[in-house]
Amino acid sequence: MSSIVIVGAQWGDEGKGKIVDVLTERADWVVRFQGGNNAGHTIVVDGVKTALSLLPSGILRPHVKCLLGAGVVLNPTVLLSEIDRVRAAGANISPGRLVIDRDAHLVLDYHVLVDKARELARGASKIGTTGRGIGPAYEDRSQRSGIRCADLLHPARMRERVRAHVDEKNKMLKLILESKAHVDFDEVWGRLEQEAAILAPFVGNGSRLIFDALRAGERVIFEGAQGVLLDQVHGTYPYVTSSSTIAGSATVGVGIGPKMINSVLGIAKAYCTRVGEGPFPTEMVGDLGDDVRTRGREFGTITGRPRRCGWFDAVAMKRAIRTSGIDSVILTKLDVLSGLPTLKLCTSYMRGGEVVDDLPPSVEDYEGLEADYLEVAGWSEDISGVRTWDALPRNVRAFVETLSKLIECPVSFVSVGPGREATIPVAPPSVVKEFMA
Ligand code: IMP
Repeated sequence: MSSIVIVGAQWGDEGKGKIVDVLTERADWVVRFQGGNNAGHTIVVDGVKTALSLLPSGILRPHVKCLLGAGVVLNPTVLLSEIDRVRAAGANISPGRLVIDRDAHLVLDYHVLVDKARELARGASKIGTTGRGIGPAYEDRSQRSGIRCADLLHPARMRERVRAHVDEKNKMLKLILESKAHVDFDEVWGRLEQEAAILAPFVGNGSRLIFDALRAGERVIFEGAQGVLLDQVHGTYPYVTSSSTIAGSATVGVGIGPKMINSVLGIAKAYCTRVGEGPFPTEMVGDLGDDVRTRGREFGTITGRPRRCGWFDAVAMKRAIRTSGIDSVILTKLDVLSGLPTLKLCTSYMRGGEVVDDLPPSVEDYEGLEADYLEVAGWSEDISGVRTWDALPRNVRAFVETLSKLIECPVSFVSVGPGREATIPVAPPSVVKEFMA
């Protein structure tokens, strides 16, 4: 039995898709356990780029089976169009190779409308959601009225429940959110009935499949979406997503016990980015932020939104390491920093002359908070073609070693470009080596 959980250790967009893809050479399963099509994972194979939002990143490796676990919220229309797109690029996506857990909840049109209307109603205090209906779908799950993938097998049973949802959301849109948006039951139902027929053969028992696979000695990668700092409880609340993004969520979102997880990898950029609103203590201001955004092509994979850029934050990272039990960190996008004469690593925050050594609990507590930095020398070389640790310029290695000391966690790989081949092993844990050729 070998299993790895891979989580984003910052605010999302750390390059998880690429790392999952690299580690699937010898994997049997790749499993998504939370979130929905608010995620955007990019994989580049032989120069060809594939953007995924729902399908697990193992889908491009023909021998890998993929599960959308019970903790995922799934928009059937988006999933079907993604399946068509990835099939057109040559992937075989058949029932059995792709399984959708029967307990995963559906995201339907009305969730998207409520998400957008609520953001508008929030005005200046908006969260900056992706507008994909993720929050409202999880709300329905929590208030125990959600429509699940199991219902796709019995459309007649869910018809009246969908109608009740449509009525409720229309009232909410009009009377509470003062929105002009309106949901048409016939439209929602007509499409859902057709989609149910196509998706029904993919619905299965994910918990049983993964439990049995691990018991049989298969290799499983649990692929997190978003980042640990967007966790609904342990993130920068309320500027967070609606699911639990920490590594422990893999067990809850699939339905296996914590003892079945062997290792947790945290993916982090060599700097930081954040999309949407919310605290960001190391945010770069002015031209530097624009420069890093351009160099790093920091625009949302799915939404195209510009990402806010900042320096690497060791304080936030230590929180991610703690809340997810990260064993080692994979540092991505190191090549983006080439050419900057001096680099900064945030070592602590200060407020009113006092050291603050963790992300504060409330937005108001960020008032007057300043990041304290360690400055280190940059490098001028283009490192995107380097393929071994020893061949990296001395300053690059020194930067990584200093960062690793600050976060008190080993760095197992560094990544210097978007392709599979641009991933350099530094000190991979033995469990991780089992996943590589
Ligand atoms: P939601 O998940 O659409 O509700 O958005 C809540 C917050 O999470 C917003 O700040 C989004 O920008 C952020 N977010 C959601 N998904 C991603 C992602 O995949 N990458 C980065 N940020 C995300």
